[in-house]
Order: sequence, then structure tokens, then C-alpha cells
Amino acid sequence: MLFPALDVPAPRSAAAGTGPTAGPNSPGTRDPLGLLDLFGAPFVRDPYPWLDLLRSESPVHHDPVTGLWLVSRHEDVRHVLLDPEVFLPDNAQNAATPLPVPVLRVLVRAGFTLPPALANNGTASHSGLRRVVTRFFNARCVAAAVPVIERIADELLDAARSQLDSTGKSDLFTSFAQVLPSRVLMELLGIRGIDPATLIRWSDAALELFWGRPALERQLELAELVVDFHRWLTETVNGGTAPADSFIGELTRHRLPDGSPLDVATAVGTCFFVFVAGQSTTGQLIATALRRALAETGMWQRVACEAGLAEAWVQEVLRREPPVTTWRRVTARATALGGTRLPEGAQLLLMLMGSGSDPEVFPQPERMCPHRENIRHHLAFGAGRHRCPGASLAHTEAVVALRAAARHLPRIQPAAGAADAPMLGLLSFRAPLRVAVEQR
Ligand code: HEM
Repeated sequence: MLFPALDVPAPRSAAAGTGPTAGPNSPGTRDPLGLLDLFGAPFVRDPYPWLDLLRSESPVHHDPVTGLWLVSRHEDVRHVLLDPEVFLPDNAQNAATPLPVPVLRVLVRAGFTLPPALANNGTASHSGLRRVVTRFFNARCVAAAVPVIERIADELLDAARSQLDSTGKSDLFTSFAQVLPSRVLMELLGIRGIDPATLIRWSDAALELFWGRPALERQLELAELVVDFHRWLTETVNGGTAPADSFIGELTRHRLPDGSPLDVATAVGTCFFVFVAGQSTTGQLIATALRRALAETGMWQRVACEAGLAEAWVQEVLRREPPVTTWRRVTARATALGGTRLPEGAQLLLMLMGSGSDPEVFPQPERMCPHRENIRHHLAFGAGRHRCPGASLAHTEAVVALRAAARHLPRIQPAAGAADAPMLGLLSFRAPLRVAVEQR
């Protein structure tokens, strides 16, 4: 189930474009971690000082606002991810903000439920369901997908170039980064009969409803969208019209460890997670990779032509500024972590982003360094039994996107004010919502 929630006060909106900017280093701050607000503008805008403070002062820190234990050192995060017996994934999809009765009513009335399937499944059915997913995203599939990714990227960038030619500016998030992964996923999974813009809207709504801190009115709007998404998936799974070699076709043929067919609710829950995980996060990665490359002197020209540079650049973005900033686990029993005692049922928030800036593992973590020796040691895709099965696809898409954008649009620069773009600031997802560029 997705509903059990943390006790979070004061709803805010998902985009942190404005608001107070005081951070942990503001003068006169006696107990800086006491000011930490994981959804607040200071944290979303510039999380690095907070993450440094957590790592150095309180590496397993109880956050009184959310009730979560924040785990920020690379070693501890990795330890948790690699021990699925003690640290269960069951809370991975719980709503971060309590869903009030009117919102629950919308969901329940529509039969919305997400039983354990992938990320939130610590049971015996996990490995079989995961195999269905990896069949579509293994190395061979990803290599075969490169021409598809290139074709869609070219098409979208041609449109962005026309817009630049006619107006002098463009937003590479809405015109390119956000759309590419959705179109690629539809082709790879054989998804038909739906407009990519609708899939994007549904997927973003799910992220905000379950990982954000929206106010009631917004929660109700989001719940309606999520219900539409769930209904469409249920009809598609039930309808029997999905091609046999499509993802949904494979799921309907899947058998559980006891030989029984997959129930509709679990098949829908599996699709729900894959469709959300497979598009929004990758769009966010592409947006950050573009923004960072545009901001670094000479990088835009270099990624267009230097062999291996776009690949390494994307790895560095994943290390330093990953789109999935945190992930959750819950303790199966009382245990110790990094010298701190944790009770049974402790809800952990693994600070994946903080772990990528741990100076014990990545010297001078603030530097984007494509020649770093251990460039792939980040935990942006998790680790162990639940490690992201879409990692290779996501990395490849971002590499193709970055290189194609730098080649198609060699004479662009960040538009005035681009550095202050609004940011998506959810419990586990962070990325620019705009990549505004103009002709040089
Ligand atoms: C930049 C893009 C992406 C990032 C940063 C990302 C990150 C993650 C993370 C952190 C996890 C949890 C890992 C753990 O618990 O150890 C995860 C799980 C998952 N991701 Fe991704 N992901 C991305 C793209 C994708 C794509 C493109 C797909 C599918 C096409 C995908 C499908 C999944 C699935 C199915 C799981 C659950 C796996 C399991 O529980 O066995 N992700 N991802």
C-alpha cells in the first residue's frame, strides 16, 4: 500500500523558486540542523551545505519534522542498501505527506492501490517481477535503443532550433529533456494509444502527490490525475489488447513463485512504478546535465566532440546532483548504523545525493571532474537487490541527449536569469523545471 504517511506539517508547493534563502551557514545560526526543512526553499535551492553538515555532525540524524532518520555518509548508505534483511524496502513508495480523508476517498473510490511489486517489495515475488523489467532494459536492449533515442532527440532538437531561430530563445526542459524519455519508454515498452504529454502529466502528478508536500486543494487535483493514470493502466491490463511482446503483454503472462498468474492490482502497480520511474527521473537527469554543461566554460563545445566526455559528464552529474536525491528503507529489527542505535520500524531516508559528495570517497566533491578515478562509485541508482534496472537506459539517454543538443545547438548559452530557474523539490526528486537558453 502507498498510503501510510509521515507526519509532516505545513503544506507547501512543489517548486522552490522563491522563499527564504537562509541556510545552515547563516550568521547567528546556533543549531543549524534544527532549521533543516527538507521541502523548504533553502534546502532545495542549495542542499550542499546541509548535506555536508549532516555528514560531518550527525551522519545518522533524526529529523523531528518528518520523523525520518537521515543517513548521509556513503559507507552507511551503501551498507543499508546491501543489507535487505535488516533494512526493508517496504516504505519506498509511502506517501511522504499524509493523505487526508477527502484525498483517500478519491483514491479508494477508484480502487487505487499499489501492492508490493518492485521498489516496495521485499517478498519472494520481487525477483521474478524484476526479471520481467530487466528483459526490456538489459544491455542488449539499451544498445539496440540508441538509434531510436537519437532519432527522437534529433526530431525534438530540430523543433527547438526552429524556435531559437524564430524567437531567439527556448526552454530545453519542456521542449526536449522532459519529452525524450517518455517517447523512448513508449517505444521500448510497446505503449500505444496514449499521448506522451498525458503520460508525462500523470507521472509528474504521481511524484508530487506521493513525494511532495502539496496543500489539500493541490492533493485533490493530483489524486484525480493519478486515478486517471491508474484507471487507464487497469483498462489496458484487463483489456487484453496489449501486444504479446510488449511489457504489459509479458506481465499478463508472468507467473508468481507458486505458479499462479499475477493479479491485476500487482500488474498495474508494476506498470505504475515503471512508467513513473522510467520517464520523470531521466528527464530530470537530462535537464541537470544540460544545465551544468552549459554553465561550465567550454564544456558545451567539448561534449559535442570529445570521445567519452559526455558519458563521464553524466556520471559526474549523477554523483554530484542526481535527480533521485534520496530513497527510503525501514528497519526490520533494532540495529546500529554508523554508531547510532535504531529501533525496529525506524524509517530511514538515504541521502543518495549527500553520499555522492562524501569527501572520504570523492576528493574535492564540489568539482565536476570527468576524469575521476572512481567515477561510477556513486549511489544514484541505489545498490544491491533493488538497484535501478533502468540505470543503463537512463545513462545512455542522457549521454545521447547531451551530445545531440551540443551538436544541434552549438551557439546557445544560458538565458539571462537561467541560474534562478525554479526547482522541483520533492522528498526524493530534485531538478530544474526550466533550462532556458538563447542564441549567442
Ligand atoms: C536518471 C534516472 C534514474 C534514476 C536516478 C533512478 C534511480 C533509482 C533508484 C535510486 C532506485 C532504488 C534503488 C534501490 O532501492 O536500491 C530505482 C529503482 C528502480 N528504477 Fe530507477 N532510476 C532512474 C531511471 C529509471 C528508468 C529509466 C527505469 C525504467 C525504465 C527505472 C526503473 C526502476 C525500477 C523498476 C526500480 C525498482 C527496482 C527494484 O526494486 O528491483 N529507473 N531507480
